[in-house]
Amino acid sequence: MSIEISDWKISNCLKNNESNFNKKKILNILTEKEIDEAYKAISKWKNYSPTPLLQLNKLSKKLNVNRIFYKDESKRFHLKSFKALGGAYAVEKVTKGNKEIIVSTATAGNHGRSVAWGTQKLGLDCKIFVSEYVSENRVQVMKNFGADVIRVKGNYENSLNECVKQSKKNNWQIVQDVAWENYVDVPKLTMAGYSVMMKEISEQIDNQKISHIFLQAGVGGMAAGMIAGMARYLDYNPIIIVVEPDSAACVLESIKVGEIKKIQIEQESILGGMSCSEVSLIPWQILKNSLDYCVTVKDDNISKTVKYLANSEFCDEKIVGGECSTPGIISIIGLCNNEDDKKEIKLNKNSNVLIIGCEGDADENLYHELLNKKD
Ligand SMILES: Cc1ncc(COP(=O)(O)O)c(C=O)c1O
Repeated sequence: MSIEISDWKISNCLKNNESNFNKKKILNILTEKEIDEAYKAISKWKNYSPTPLLQLNKLSKKLNVNRIFYKDESKRFHLKSFKALGGAYAVEKVTKGNKEIIVSTATAGNHGRSVAWGTQKLGLDCKIFVSEYVSENRVQVMKNFGADVIRVKGNYENSLNECVKQSKKNNWQIVQDVAWENYVDVPKLTMAGYSVMMKEISEQIDNQKISHIFLQAGVGGMAAGMIAGMARYLDYNPIIIVVEPDSAACVLESIKVGEIKKIQIEQESILGGMSCSEVSLIPWQILKNSLDYCVTVKDDNISKTVKYLANSEFCDEKIVGGECSTPGIISIIGLCNNEDDKKEIKLNKNSNVLIIGCEGDADENLYHELLNKKD
């Protein structure tokens, strides 16, 4: 089968005119100490090992770029996403061995899985709030880790509001990956956890230099954690492209106006973990002056990307990449299909591109649906 990607498109590509990557400023927000502590703790966890950094050699040849690296987070412990690094680490740091604490959180799925795993490891009780859009499959995985899962009518924001309300009432410790006023320390821990990916990549890349990095964003925690990791572990600055669903482009809309802008989500994207209406406070402080471009994508090419990954069309290996692993790939293809965009973003035969394969079949039912979808 020859892959059909000539008509793939991105929706938007916005240049950030305020971009001015400043290592010192970034490491004032998420410090070297916080980043190093996260690596030190997580690398001691049982069964820790760096996830693979693969090369999409067939795709790079097709797009005429030098290399496309793919960080395969489907192999992150047995949790199947990078989120394993954040929530579980924050639980460990916040509870400090106190067995009396009851932990709570709201989630689109993967963060809650990580928190549930973290609490199970420590023998703590855990309450997880999910919206009506979170699949039963994802709920079941959290229950299997021993969590109480509470469904809330409405979207992610409703589940978070309910979590905050109930936690205040019952004196539960919220371990959230989103920051708001007076709630910044815990989300920072999750970001420090995510930066472990960058530490691993800096060692896996040998002496090659990454020219471009595509970072998916929901509330921006992963993107900002990785950028802090770049400030910590790299001695050069790749071009940073943040990718969001077209229907939930809260980072792009904020970059447009230079301040956090809450958006209205008219329709939920299949990219459930990335369907967020407001960028988180601490990530915003990092993202606003460090990202170079915001790109948005529609849901149209997701199932094909999942299939191409699974059928070793992008490289010699078969890769299990769930829905949120696809936006970086869709973006680079979409940008390369438009000569003006490709030139603007400086993608060429010398480029070494890094893409984050955020998750595997974390939602097995959805994964198989996408895999079997007739496009
Ligand atoms: C599975 C999953 N959930 C959530 C996110 C979003 O992370 P954040 O909300 O920290 O931006 C991503 C990646 O962007 C993801 O792949």
